[in-house]
Amino acid sequence: MGKGFFISKAVGIVAIILCVGAVAVIIALSVVYSQEKAKNNNQVSPTDGGSTSNPPVTPSPSNEPWDKYRLPKSLVPDHYNVTLWPRLTLDATTELYIFTGDSSVEFECAEETDLILIHSNKLNYTKLENGHLAMLTSVNSGVKAPSIKYSWLQNVTQYLVLQLNGKLSKDHRYHLVTQFTGELADDLGGFYRSEYMEDGVKKVVATTQMQPTDARKAFPCFDEPAMKAIFYITLIHDRGTVALSNGEVKDSSNFPIEGHNVQKTIFEPTQKMSTYLLAFIVSDFAFINNTIDGVLIRIFARKPAIAAGQGEYALNKTGPILKFFEKYYNTSYPLPKSDQIALPDFNAGAMENWGLITYRETALLYDEAYSSNSNKERIATIIAHELAHMWFGNLVTLRWWNDLWLNEGFASYVEYLGAHEAEPDWNVKDLIVLSDVHRVFAVDALASSHPLSSREEDIQKPAQISELFDAISYSKGASVLRMLSDFLTEEVFTMGLQTYLGKFAFGNAAYTDLLNHLQMAVIANGIQLPDTVPNIMSTWILQMGFPVVTINTTTGVVSQQHFLLDPDSEVTAVSPFNYEWIVPIKWMKTEVVQEPQWLTDKSATNNEMKLSGADWVLANLDVVGYYRVNYDTDNWNRLVVKLRTDHELIPVINRAQLVDDAFNLARAKIISTVLALETTQYLNNERDYMPWESALSNLDFFYLMFDRSKVYGPMQDYLRKQVTPLFEYYKNMTLNWSKVPDGHMDQYNQVNAISLACRTGLEECQTLAKSLFSQWMNTNVNQIHPNLRSTVYCNAIAAGGAKEWEFAWSQFVKATIATEAEKLRSALACTKESWLLNRYLEYTLDPNIIRKQDATSTIVYIANNVAGQPLAWDFVRARWSYIFTEYGGGSFSFSNLINGVTKRFSTDFELQQLKQFKADNSVVGFGSGTLAVDQSIERTISNMKWISENQENVLNWFKAA
Ligand SMILES: *[C@@H]1O[C@H](CO)[C@@H](O)[C@H](O)[C@H]1NC(C)=O
Ligand SMILES: *[C@@H]1O[C@H](CO)[C@@H](O)[C@H](O)[C@H]1NC(C)=O
Ligand SMILES: *[C@@H]1O[C@H](CO)[C@@H](O)[C@H](O)[C@H]1NC(C)=O
Ligand SMILES: *[C@@H]1O[C@H](CO)[C@@H](O)[C@H](O)[C@H]1NC(C)=O
Ligand SMILES: [Zn+2]
Repeated sequence: MGKGFFISKAVGIVAIILCVGAVAVIIALSVVYSQEKAKNNNQVSPTDGGSTSNPPVTPSPSNEPWDKYRLPKSLVPDHYNVTLWPRLTLDATTELYIFTGDSSVEFECAEETDLILIHSNKLNYTKLENGHLAMLTSVNSGVKAPSIKYSWLQNVTQYLVLQLNGKLSKDHRYHLVTQFTGELADDLGGFYRSEYMEDGVKKVVATTQMQPTDARKAFPCFDEPAMKAIFYITLIHDRGTVALSNGEVKDSSNFPIEGHNVQKTIFEPTQKMSTYLLAFIVSDFAFINNTIDGVLIRIFARKPAIAAGQGEYALNKTGPILKFFEKYYNTSYPLPKSDQIALPDFNAGAMENWGLITYRETALLYDEAYSSNSNKERIATIIAHELAHMWFGNLVTLRWWNDLWLNEGFASYVEYLGAHEAEPDWNVKDLIVLSDVHRVFAVDALASSHPLSSREEDIQKPAQISELFDAISYSKGASVLRMLSDFLTEEVFTMGLQTYLGKFAFGNAAYTDLLNHLQMAVIANGIQLPDTVPNIMSTWILQMGFPVVTINTTTGVVSQQHFLLDPDSEVTAVSPFNYEWIVPIKWMKTEVVQEPQWLTDKSATNNEMKLSGADWVLANLDVVGYYRVNYDTDNWNRLVVKLRTDHELIPVINRAQLVDDAFNLARAKIISTVLALETTQYLNNERDYMPWESALSNLDFFYLMFDRSKVYGPMQDYLRKQVTPLFEYYKNMTLNWSKVPDGHMDQYNQVNAISLACRTGLEECQTLAKSLFSQWMNTNVNQIHPNLRSTVYCNAIAAGGAKEWEFAWSQFVKATIATEAEKLRSALACTKESWLLNRYLEYTLDPNIIRKQDATSTIVYIANNVAGQPLAWDFVRARWSYIFTEYGGGSFSFSNLINGVTKRFSTDFELQQLKQFKADNSVVGFGSGTLAVDQSIERTISNMKWISENQENVLNWFKAA
């Protein structure tokens, strides 16, 4: 260990205090999961015997292998041969959209067994000539396959079950053949359909979303990520439509069948891969293409979108990003082609199917006339995110979903590196601090948070897997990996990454495998660390939350403690490290950057951090560390003075940090709310985006807490005063709003200036918004720049009445550009008219009006509006069971919905309502929103306390400021 790198070991008084948390035995998550398990154990097993297709009646139903959610290890798939035929018109007999398919899978028997379990969900099987739902044959000559005794569908655990009359022999291979029908529903999961209008004609697309557990809804498969196999895919489709899958087209020919004149497209076999990465799409989309170093790149979308050039940006950026990742991973792109397709209905932002990435339209299509710079950034970062997965996740796959955080956290970190490659002028890498670090701090500071890593045995059911797709996995994963890459150096980080990918290519790994490879790179490069990479990182991965590091510049004592937004909340989760972390500290003293340090104990003394005179200390430079920083009052005051007198001496990311840390430390009662507000006093001199954005997102909480109270007026007066110079600055820069600022960050901050100026009632701003909007209404020509549209629409609709709303609604209905529709959809929620808001809420549950993928976010938009909040809450309460059953497929929606409609809650009355809501719906359940319900209760309690403690001080401060 190099000298000066480490803070000396502390006198260990503090260690004793730490065991307090260790009283309770189970972590919050496992409480939730064990409740789920308890419910699950009550499932009754099939009982109607008689036909051979039915299962035997068993005395202890819940302990049979088919009652468990994980596959036994007895069978290992080698390859599948799947033919699917989606029908894009209604089936006359069932009056459904359907698909038919046949599938065979060749598997090897690894352990003798007389039972075959293969995943299958919502598929109807044709009885084959043996009278069963499947046929089993032996691949090896000389070994005969046992006959099938019973075959049935175990719907709860989603299996097709075959009980055999004899045993399968170890190391022998067998073939399992099935024929089935499924519904091509509009449920956004498995093989599903998406609809859109083109020239007044309804068009249907058949597409897929398999991750995490819906491949089994398209064909029977061993649907676990470690069950990698090769897939021979064939699609049958109408002539003139385009069939796509993971592989390249091998052959496509006319194929008259059952009186249909259809086409049969056979794809090249895939690489060895996981089921959740499969994709099958039939559409009449168009594409644009190019080739880069022999890799075919294509962008597919609706024909008018391609004709309008909306795929060009994505096409232009994909090649460079792909090349960047080849270099970054030191591994060539593993496939011959990279297709990306924009779908009208898609639940997530995008999905990294190997070789055929699916996107929401807004995440892939760019139109200069309609897309803002933020739309553009989203496209660049999402493309980078998905392409990053082509190696990390697809080539090397985590063994089980409990390690999802590594897959998603990694892609969420390197997406910034890839986007930076595509747009080097943007400084986009800085933005991870706002979009991920600060965002997830808010969640991870709650006592109901959970560690990055889950135990494999706690993640079993599909709903438990879906629940892992949360801010912790994505944003905390990204933040912690960024910190790791920083203290290892990028060079060492990529070296470990590259050997990891080399070792596990086409296979599976656990997160510890990556850490071990990074440790090897550390040793190879002689990097000095206070402990091994796995040991350092365990403190960040195996315990929830993060520390606040406190630097006392009077004594030089540096200490850490688990940061809890609500200091009174009770942490029942036991941590293996007693909520201590091994913390890398980059810091500066009075403008001079110092040697980085490590805090390896609860506390330590560092004389370098003892100050005299006007010196100041600033720690966690560029917020590369996943922690907050607190100081003694004197140092805080010196920093606040520095902000006011010479703010540019503090790096811009740290200016954003000072504001964000101060507000959150105040929430946690570690510093006073008044001190936090003082960090905003310099904003009348601030022109940079990141500090403003940080201030605005923190003031959002003030708005939520106070926009129904007497604090509101004086707060508005203060903020209007602060933002007016910024408004003037951009007015001048843009020559009275007639041109666009050059810089990416300036474009963002211009929007902030207008949003806040209008929100705080600056008359000039409101007049601007209204006149831009009415110009559009009067002339039917929209001359509002795409960057400004969201805020202008919202402010004009808020200021207007039914006329403005109806105009915007008519524009929404006829919008053919997804990004434009998105801006209107959110702005429509800004009206102050209750009847319009209520009607809009009703619209959200009619999929003909609001797409299912947009329902929950629309409700949340309405709840964000102070006038819409109570209406949205009543609506969600009244319709919960309907929403839950109709919209149950998605990964993110329920937790966003619950958090969204309850985030303003701050009264006892609202708390009681929330508890009642939880009790009333305990039978229906909350699915992926289970954790969010508890988080909302916790947040409401903490809001109540915060208001009672702060309202008067804050009121007085705003009045005086
Ligand atoms: C599973 O569902 C299908 C229809 O969806 C039904 O025919 C079958 O009996 C169910 N199986 C069991 C074991 O309940
Ligand atoms: C896949 O199955 C079809 C018939 O269902 C057959 O013609 C084809 O040869 C099979 N391909 C492979 C690779 O097994
Ligand atoms: C599957 O079978 C069930 C029960 O018979 C039926 O209600 C459903 O419509 C069938 N689905 C398809 C796609 O045929
Ligand atoms: C793009 O696709 C067309 C039609 O398939 C093909 O002729 C052309 O060579 C492709 N261009 C590139 C650059 O791959
Ligand atoms: Zn991802």
